[in-house]
Amino acid sequence: MADFTSNIWSWFIALTTIASVIALFWLVFVLSTSKKPTNSDGEVETMGHVWDDNLEEYNNPLPRWWLYLFVGTLVWGVGYLIYYPGLGAYAGVGEWSQAGQYEEEKQTAEAKYGPIYEKFQAMDVKQLASNDEALKIGESLYSSYCTTCHGSDARGARGFPNLRDNDWLYGGEPENIKTTLLNGRQGAMPAWSEILNSDEIFNVTSYVEQLAGREVDNKHASLGKQLYATNCAMCHGAEGKGNPMFGAPNLTDDIWLYGGSQKKITESIVGGRNGNMPAHKEFLGEAKIHLLTAYIYSLSNE
Ligand code: HEC
Ligand code: HEC
Repeated sequence: MADFTSNIWSWFIALTTIASVIALFWLVFVLSTSKKPTNSDGEVETMGHVWDDNLEEYNNPLPRWWLYLFVGTLVWGVGYLIYYPGLGAYAGVGEWSQAGQYEEEKQTAEAKYGPIYEKFQAMDVKQLASNDEALKIGESLYSSYCTTCHGSDARGARGFPNLRDNDWLYGGEPENIKTTLLNGRQGAMPAWSEILNSDEIFNVTSYVEQLAGREVDNKHASLGKQLYATNCAMCHGAEGKGNPMFGAPNLTDDIWLYGGSQKKITESIVGGRNGNMPAHKEFLGEAKIHLLTAYIYSLSNE
């Protein structure tokens, strides 16, 4: 419990708590020993409140069982404060902590699933891709860690690739997928607004549309083709089929990461794109990534 910025607060909390407990014990003690207040005729006094004509409130002490209940809760409270951390920075004789409980649960889970992960880690990804038990674990790992970006159905969204469609930025072989998961990927499509003027952007956009199989004005497209050869081919390939080394998308298949309308393509070219797939090696560890790889591989190889 090193969460206190200053010892003063720890002491403040501990002492106010102890003082309150003592005060409550005293209050219960006083109540339990006090006599019934009676008037000169020996009758119990009323509080002077009357309801419904004759319903009066008497000044009786609390019934015994009720008082013992109070004593019971106080004693329980003291026991709790001795065992658990409750008094400022005092850790409690049980040395229980949230972090400790989390660690314990984690270890229990590891002891339970460790051997299962180990068994699967020794198996080939392609083999696992048809193993129902492995895929089930892979799917639940996917649901916990990947749906926020790639969607619960793994079909992605704008900027987040579809993982079911067999169209890969970085390659769809088990080792490609695994590298993606372990180390992450950083897409680096440069912005062309400073390098090409707006006519050139329009022409190269036309050519990209033509690559995707659309009808466009051939005059613009052929001007765009030259620009493409000098500026784009090194990453997207001479024929526009992409390059998994850079994660440069295939521009000929009419599958778009950032949208395929003329407007969206222009946006991609003018402003550049920088998709970031985070590395998961530290976070998940190799065994889980092995199962995730099998699950992702199975999606497009069913
Ligand atoms: C923070 C969002 C985010 C999370 C979380 C995330 N991804 Fe990604 N992922 C991306 C982005 C963005 C890309 C594309 C990178 C690029 O544009 O170069 C990507 C790319 C990929 C690719 C490569 C696709 C291809 O076409 O080559 C795979 C495979 C992948 N992610 C799987 C996963 C799995 C499995 C998980 C869960 C462990 C996961 N991702 C979690 C954002 C995310
Ligand atoms: C340095 C390598 C590189 C160069 C040069 C390059 N690109 Fe890209 N391009 C990429 C990468 C990588 C991506 C994917 C970015 C991402 O995943 O976030 C991309 C994405 C795109 C997209 C979006 C595709 C989609 O599916 O939404 C278009 C369109 C595009 N590039 C066109 C061009 C054009 C036109 C040129 C030349 C003017 C060009 N690129 C030059 C690497 C490059």
